[in-house]
Amino acid sequence: MQNIRKIAVLTSGGDAPGMNPCIRAVVRTAIYNNKEVIGVRQGYQGLIDNNTYPMHTRSVSNILALGGTILKTARCLEFRTDEGQEKAYRNLKAQEVDAMVVIGGDGTFTGALRFSRRYPDIAVIGVPGTIDNDLYGSDYTLGFDTATNTVIEAIDKIRDTADSHDRLFFIEVMGRDSGCIALRAGIAGGAEAIMLPETETGIEDLINKLESSPNKSSSIVIVAEGEHHGGAYDIAKIVKDRIKSYHTKVTILGHLQRGGSPSSFDRILGSRLGYAAVNALLQGESQKMVGLRGNAIKLTSLEEALSQHEFKLEDDLMEMTNILSI
Ligand code: F6P
Repeated sequence: MQNIRKIAVLTSGGDAPGMNPCIRAVVRTAIYNNKEVIGVRQGYQGLIDNNTYPMHTRSVSNILALGGTILKTARCLEFRTDEGQEKAYRNLKAQEVDAMVVIGGDGTFTGALRFSRRYPDIAVIGVPGTIDNDLYGSDYTLGFDTATNTVIEAIDKIRDTADSHDRLFFIEVMGRDSGCIALRAGIAGGAEAIMLPETETGIEDLINKLESSPNKSSSIVIVAEGEHHGGAYDIAKIVKDRIKSYHTKVTILGHLQRGGSPSSFDRILGSRLGYAAVNALLQGESQKMVGLRGNAIKLTSLEEALSQHEFKLEDDLMEMTNILSI
């Protein structure tokens, strides 16, 4: 088993609340085990540019409550090339780094797996950090809980004004390929309909649904950004001319869903996963993701985490939603 002395930690892809608690846990668990840690700024771009700094116990003081990531993040195209990966490897070797913790989503893990297959002498553990909650092997990803709560807060506020004016609102939430935020926020916010990338809801079905609930003083439809009709504006345009009983409005929540102080769930999850990631490295693991399954920490190979798209939109939730939103 490789004896690890120095660990690099980075965040990559879209930021997610909970990344900071995770960074804190990685740094402090590593130092507790007498390992050195370097922070890499701006994800894989920072590996290529050698944009790193030594991290100590106090480097991560008072960051539990901070949204975003103190390490900054980026979507780095150069790391997808052989040349980019080689530059990153040379920089890591020059600093005698022998292990990495990468916190991010599927793009981050794809880069990590490719890198680790080329350069297996640097062990890599992934932590699922994305508001989309779309990685196989973890019931929850960092940021999903906070983002969902942010959306619910927005729905509640919009409901107040929608109700006062007897309006129909289409609220677009994030999720290019994943309807997890839309479904759960829709349930918690009492949405009349939820439109997801994973299932096709026909416009006729939507109109029937909205018209079949008599005496409602407002209606809210949650639309995930990757939904098939092209987003909330496009759907609203079609529905507007068909449903005369309501005035129709659209709200796009956008990037505000990615910000904010992490919820207690995301702080605890970030801490658990960061701690587990370092322990996995110390036990000689590599090319794996640490995840939460049934409230226990489990390892899943990066390959499996990427290759199996876990359909997290449980059928019973969909069925329940249709009944409860009458
Ligand atoms: O992956 C997280 C996510 O927030 C998606 O839900 C969204 O589609 C995407 O990132 C937006 O990415 P960007 O911030 O690069 O526009």
